[in-house]
Amino acid sequence: IKKIVVLTSGGDAPGMNAAIRGVVRAALSEGLEVFGIYDGYLGLYEDRMEKLDRYSVSDMINRGGTFLGSARFPQFKDGSVRAKAIENLKKRGIDALVVIGGDGSYMGAKRLTEEGFPCIGLPGTIDNDVAGTDYTIGYFTALETVVEAIDRLRDTSSSHQRISIVEVMGRHCGDLTLAAAIAGGCEFIVLPEIEFNREDLVNEIKAGISKGKKHAIVAITEHICDINELARHIEQETQRETRATVLGHIQRGGPPVAYDRILASRMGAYAIELLLQGYGGRCVGILNEKMVHHDIIDAIENMKRPFKGDWLETAKKLY
Ligand code: F6P
Repeated sequence: IKKIVVLTSGGDAPGMNAAIRGVVRAALSEGLEVFGIYDGYLGLYEDRMEKLDRYSVSDMINRGGTFLGSARFPQFKDGSVRAKAIENLKKRGIDALVVIGGDGSYMGAKRLTEEGFPCIGLPGTIDNDVAGTDYTIGYFTALETVVEAIDRLRDTSSSHQRISIVEVMGRHCGDLTLAAAIAGGCEFIVLPEIEFNREDLVNEIKAGISKGKKHAIVAITEHICDINELARHIEQETQRETRATVLGHIQRGGPPVAYDRILASRMGAYAIELLLQGYGGRCVGILNEKMVHHDIIDAIENMKRPFKGDWLETAKKLY
């Protein structure tokens, strides 16, 4: 292979810039030509790409977001849209595509691979919901952000003897909520992997109050229920003032922490190693600190992320 291209897709994540830098610098050091596509699959379809050199990624390792831009582009499911994308790649003589994004972005990479254009996927999302890797790029930074927010909520919730509900991103994966809740010492944890029963939660909170708890923080993953409504219900049932906080997109911003930068750099360089070894249609992961790769189709269709049930059990002992 001689020419490769890189894009970032889906929700941005801190460390995506470091991953692009890893791909670009590793490719250049192997004598490959590198292009960058703007705004994910949308830019690929619209043929918006340009050549990158080592200075295109200078001063990027510490920057949040993605300088290439990202987009959600559901139209990429359409075969004719992908045919145009492949035509745009082929007319420039590009041999392979590196996609940095979450599982939605892997879907596009999977389809292009099936249609004969080799792609390598790097897991870039704060959700930590991608199969075949212990961690995704951006997760550790978001974790720090959420824990800092919980610490701040603890100050005010304790001063006013209130119950605080904090809603954490993660789509349908509770990893970010669970880890942040343990690190933030949250009293109650509600995760998408465990069936939610509102009355059970209310009863647990009441039991906590009768044991002498003066205030409490409930960490809950997004998309489980309306947390403002939940706050009103808890307040009514417990007679304790209750406030709801949705952390939202704050969780996606900020400079990547060191581990995300290292992960992104290693994964970016590893993607190039794989391409030079002749691999296509793979996704990169880290398992027990080692770089690994899987068939991207298999990862999407058959591999499941294990749920950290033991972490939840530990958290509950510490409530
Ligand atoms: O996948 C990352 C993520 O931040 C999820 O946690 C969240 O559900 C979603 O993206 C939000 O998407 P958008 O930025 O398109 O509103």
